[in-house]
Amino acid sequence: MDTILILDFGSQTTELIGRRVRDLGVYTEIMPGDGALPDLSSVRGIILSGSPESVYTSRGAAPDKRIYTAGIPLLGICYGAQRMNTDLGGAVEALGTQEYGAVTVRLYPPAEAEHAAAFRERTAVFFVGFDRTAPLADILAGKIRPNEDPVSFVSWMSHGDTLTRLAPGFREYGRSVSGFPAVIVHEDYPWFGLQFHPEVTHCQRGLEILAAFVFGVCKCAPEWTMEQYVETVSRSIYRKVGDNPVLLLISGGVDSSVAGALLLKTLPEAQVHFMYLDTGLMRKDETLEVESGLTRLGARHLHSIRCEEEFLDALRGAEDPEVKRKIIGDLFITIQEREVAKLRLPPTYFLAQGTLYTDLIESGKGVGTKARLIKSHHNVGSPLVQAKREAGRIIEPLDRLYKDEARRLGGMLGMDRAVINRHPFPGPGLAVRIIGEVTKEKCAILREADAIYIAELKRRGLYDKIWQAFAVLLPVRSVGVAGDLRKYGWVLALRAVVSADGMTADVYPFLMGDIIEIATVITNTVKAVGRVTYDVSSKPPATIEWE
Ligand code: XMP
Repeated sequence: MDTILILDFGSQTTELIGRRVRDLGVYTEIMPGDGALPDLSSVRGIILSGSPESVYTSRGAAPDKRIYTAGIPLLGICYGAQRMNTDLGGAVEALGTQEYGAVTVRLYPPAEAEHAAAFRERTAVFFVGFDRTAPLADILAGKIRPNEDPVSFVSWMSHGDTLTRLAPGFREYGRSVSGFPAVIVHEDYPWFGLQFHPEVTHCQRGLEILAAFVFGVCKCAPEWTMEQYVETVSRSIYRKVGDNPVLLLISGGVDSSVAGALLLKTLPEAQVHFMYLDTGLMRKDETLEVESGLTRLGARHLHSIRCEEEFLDALRGAEDPEVKRKIIGDLFITIQEREVAKLRLPPTYFLAQGTLYTDLIESGKGVGTKARLIKSHHNVGSPLVQAKREAGRIIEPLDRLYKDEARRLGGMLGMDRAVINRHPFPGPGLAVRIIGEVTKEKCAILREADAIYIAELKRRGLYDKIWQAFAVLLPVRSVGVAGDLRKYGWVLALRAVVSADGMTADVYPFLMGDIIEIATVITNTVKAVGRVTYDVSSKPPATIEWE
């Protein structure tokens, strides 16, 4: 399949580049910018990402120089453009200030007579989106027209370094209003450098630029469809596992459920085992929904283990968030190993997980350079998973997909919309939403309050507009009145954020009327809650979860 390879130098927006290109229907792979190059036979173009580093310091990573001789079109974005320019003999220096946010860029083709027809043609193809008469639909349909009317546009920049001397062969093709090179194009090769970020939605015409690169320059075919993905992955699962049993560890979340649906579509139902631990820290009715969802999809061997008491016993007295996480993670592994052993599967069985592409990126598992461990999945590091990984007996059928792609796949496989669109939920569950010590009583209060909150959001048509919403039970009680009586109830915090991937998040701007009404329903129904607050912290500096 035609692929765009993205070399990641650590920019916050590397994943966004991948997303945008995939939205155009072209498959992308992200790899560390300074890693060994993979087989390039299906790679039609390489994009060099931005970076928080400077090219002139030792921390500024450099790509394998073979990208400059592989005959593959290159697009450098921000640091990526500076990297190309430096690698090929140009200079980059600190600006002294920063160009940040919306910055107007003016394209000005150098005088035509100076340039070979190939250069004119290449720039015309690349900047086709800037021909006002050529809408995106025409680019996608391959009806590319020459750029006759280059225009100014508002780009999105974030850089403190600039190109001060262009490498031999590069031509400046656009400049920011502050007077710095914003677009460079090579005279002899299909190499482009942009100082701005076309992948950011605030960048005017950004998608057209990416589309022009991917289709016009790299000549990619838009082959990345979910149907195609299912076919390829199903074939490879089938080939890999043969008739060995497959055990899928189900968390209750979207990802593992979609992985389950895919396995059931690919393999005979009798071959697939599911294991789900009900830790007692799940959302209301979650266990029932997981069980009924999988059964509906044809699951035959569903091993659902009730272990609430074990978890609550282990958590007794623990208040520190890290201690709580460790207790849960360790116990999860212990119970999982004990219960898997009870299944008496042959040693040749395969272990399946609902790992997503972003999980690989976040845990630094060979994708990208960003070793930002945000989620500590119990499963990623468990000895059981490690052993299976070392034996080559692990399958992660979603590991090339982003979350919304996994959701789309779930829809295609006939999964319930409510399950597919469910907000993310952390592995340690309600334990990190009950601040301080976790007790059965507090779990019950939080579960009830959270369920009301979520039901109210759905009823008001707000649930799908929010990335993640949940309630948090604080270790604080406060005085109130109920009828004529004094009431001493728990304080509950509500959280709702919008986000693309959970890495950064903004507060969901409720209408005040909505949040007041929701709070009233909660305090009227859950008597133990006396007061409700709304958390207005974005990430950063706060995280999405409270612990
Ligand atoms: P934070 O709180 O770090 O969360 O801003 C980012 C996203 O990750 C989820 N999260 C977890 N997921 N195990 C998980 O599987 C965990 O330990 C964990 N902690 C946080 C969180 O719900 C949010 O979607």
